[in-house]
Order: sequence, then structure tokens, then C-alpha cells
Amino acid sequence: MNNKYIEVKGGKSLEGKIKISGAKNSALVLMATSILAKGQINLFNVPQIRDVAIMSKILTSMGMYITSNEDKLEINIKSILHQPQEVFTNLFHSLRASFFCIGPILARLGSAKIPLPGGCSIGSRPIDEHISALEKLGVQFKFKNNYLIAEVINPKKRLIGTIIKFNCKSVGATKTLIMAACLAKGRTILKNSSQEPEIVDLANILNKMGAKVKGAGTECITIEGVESLGGCDYTVMPDRIEAGTYLIAAAMTRSKITFSSIEPKHLKEVINKLEMCGCKFEYSDKYLTIIPNQILNSVDITTLPYPGFPTDLQAPFMALMTTANGVSTIKETVFENRMHHVKELNKMGAQISLKDNTAKVVGVKKLKASSVIGFDLRGTAALAIAGLYANGKSIIQGLEHLERGYEDFALKLQQIGAEIRHKKQN
Ligand code: EPZ
Repeated sequence: MNNKYIEVKGGKSLEGKIKISGAKNSALVLMATSILAKGQINLFNVPQIRDVAIMSKILTSMGMYITSNEDKLEINIKSILHQPQEVFTNLFHSLRASFFCIGPILARLGSAKIPLPGGCSIGSRPIDEHISALEKLGVQFKFKNNYLIAEVINPKKRLIGTIIKFNCKSVGATKTLIMAACLAKGRTILKNSSQEPEIVDLANILNKMGAKVKGAGTECITIEGVESLGGCDYTVMPDRIEAGTYLIAAAMTRSKITFSSIEPKHLKEVINKLEMCGCKFEYSDKYLTIIPNQILNSVDITTLPYPGFPTDLQAPFMALMTTANGVSTIKETVFENRMHHVKELNKMGAQISLKDNTAKVVGVKKLKASSVIGFDLRGTAALAIAGLYANGKSIIQGLEHLERGYEDFALKLQQIGAEIRHKKQN
């Protein structure tokens, strides 16, 4: 376990404003689209988080040239784009999103040799949907020493568009296939596509680069292949999961908090559930303010692909329900192993029982400040939220997870009055 941790002194009501950063789950794939571009890609509103830093290193390992300045990334192909060198294998293993490179590499180079993405603590994270769909575009795969070796079959080394129906909703597979199909010969139709806002962001940047992607955000996406794609400027969408995390933190601490750079339309189901808890919302053209009730109603959630309740907010919402007035049921349907936070929340005095992937949460009046362990990005955020409520000092291990996906997590909470600090065990 890493020796970095978070110290939270909870029990305080908070107040003030939080500015939402660019979306991690969009920025990472928008960075991968630069492999498709013959010109420079300038990305704005890029979150300064560890996953972005790793993706930058991965692209550099393939001959890309990246300069970053605060939330701006300039990416172009410095020399000839080439396959990632084996010396960088551990980089790919440290970031599952590195797999987003396979579609663009195949489209640009006609072959790909990249490390297989492993599973992680929340699930096995299979890639069968990516593989079977790419095979339909004319790719042949071999697996060797934990590497994926892919070759475009036709002699011109160009993918051929076709009709593809995904067997399950996969955000990653939808993104991979959109990117691969942009330079394919002819039309590709993707059925049973994921509808997440990050996919719309991806289609928007690709169309700015000269692609012809229609229907992003619906279950049926059509891509007309083009000969080449150019560079462009693009601003990453706001991070709806970061926003949801802090909305839940505001509800947990019963604090009136105002949010800027937020996109409420990406959070409809989350806002709907928080209203069912008893929270009120004020909207203006630039801000969203949450006004929680002192007494929170217990509310049931089932995580689903977008526009359903997002799996990435299941853990934070469960933390909220531990102090609600009643019993709530929380069902995880997207990932098979995303309940590590249950045991840790119970250490803080929560009353949660778990059967298969369904948690029953009996609301309690108090949580006790404790020393707990975060095992994944969103689970660690959930424990920090519980720490903000519990009277006293909580120690939450897992800061390295938070730093992957939340820009300035402690700083943003300090700015609204939270006593939360990054610490290091010496
Ligand atoms: C993306 O992961 C996000 N990550 C995840 O966010 C998010 O939880 C997930 O989408 C769902 O919304 C990034 O965008 C970097 P999937 P991804 O492909 O693309 C099945 C976070 O906390 N599946 O939609 O890997 C499998 O059961 C992270 O920010 C297959 O069966 O998600 C998986 O559990 C966590 N075969 C489920 O779909 C496949 O080939 C969801 O996977 C692919 C997926």
C-alpha cells in the first residue's frame, strides 16, 4: 500500500464555490484521437491528473510530441508515428485507457502491437467487444506474451466499414470503433452503442478534424470513412463524475455549495436522485447550486449505462445513504467487483449488508472518524465524503487512487471550508 493518505477532520458544514475540471474519461480518449490527426491537436480544459500524465508518456513513446501548459495540451506527430516500444510496457499496464490507442493505431498504421490491458480492482475489464468488432472491420488478432498483435488483412492495409452490433453496452468499445472507422473505407454503422456524453465529446472533436460521425449519444452511430484527418482546437467537456462526487459531498455535509463549469444536463439522473433525497437545486446560466435538507431521505439506486445512474457514482452515493433517514438499496450492474468500500464504510459505523452486487444501507445518525483504506478511485472518494461527515479525524489510505482521477481533490474541498489534507507516512 502506498504511504500517502488523506487526513479529514469532519463534522463541519461547508460553504462556497467549486469549479469543475475537464472530464478525465473524455480527455484520455481525446488524447488518443491525436494519433489519427495529420496536424496539431490543441486540447483545452484538460484535467491535471496522473492518468493524463501517463497517457502523455504513452503517446510520446509512439513518436508524438506533447507540450502542456496548465490545462492546455498541444499534441502532434513529431516524427514518424511508430508502434509503442516494449520498454514502455509497464506504462500501458498502469493505465487501462491506453487501450484507446489501438483503434487509431490500426487506422493510421494498418497494424498494432500493444500490451493487453489487465483487469483492475473493480472487475476483469474484458476487451472481447473491442476485438470482435475490430475483426468485423477486417483486423486479424494474435496474442503473444501478454501482447495484442493486430494486422489489417486487406492488402491496402485499410479497414473496411460494415455494420456492427455490440453484444453489450461498452463505452470503451464504442469509442475504439468510432476512432477506427473514421479512416475506414466506406460506411460503418455501430448498433447498441453506449450513449455516454464522453462519446459525444469524442464525435465532436473527430468531426472538427474532418471526420463524418453521426448519431453519437444515441444507440446507433454512423461513420462515413474519410481519407485523412487534420488537427484542430478542442475544449474538453466538464467532468460529470467529479461534479457528481462534489454534489454528493455537499449533500452529505448538508452544505449549500455553488458549482461553476458544470453541465447539469449530463447529471439528470444524479440530480433526480438527490432531489428524491430532499435536496433542492437553483440553476442559473453559469452556475448550479445545491441546497440540501438536514434530514436526507433514503433512496434506492441501480447503476446502469448512460443515461441511467452512473456506476462511477455508486460508491459516493452509498456513502451518502449511510446517514439517510431509512433503508436504501444500492445495486451495481455494470462492474462485478465494485463494492470494496462497503467494509470500510462499516468500519466508520455504517450499517451496510451486501448480497451479490446489491447493498442494503440502513441509515445511522452518526459515523465515527476512523482509519480506512480506499481500494479504487471512486471508493476512495466515497470514504473521503464519509470522513467529511464523521466527527473527528479520519485517515483514508488510497490517495494515489484519487490523484489518478480528481484534479486538486483536497484543495477544492479546502476552498469550501473542509479540513482535509494530503499526508505522507514517513
Ligand atoms: C469507462 O470504462 C470508464 N473509463 C469507467 O470509468 C466507467 O466506469 C465505464 O466506462 C462505464 O461507464 C474510462 O472512460 C477511462 P465499459 P470502460 O467498456 O470503457 C463489459 C472511472 O472510475 N465489457 O463500458 O472500460 C464489462 O463487463 C472509470 O473513471 C465487456 O463485457 O467501460 C465491463 O464491466 C472506472 N466486454 C462493462 O462492460 C468489453 O469488451 C463496462 O465496460 C468491454 C466491456
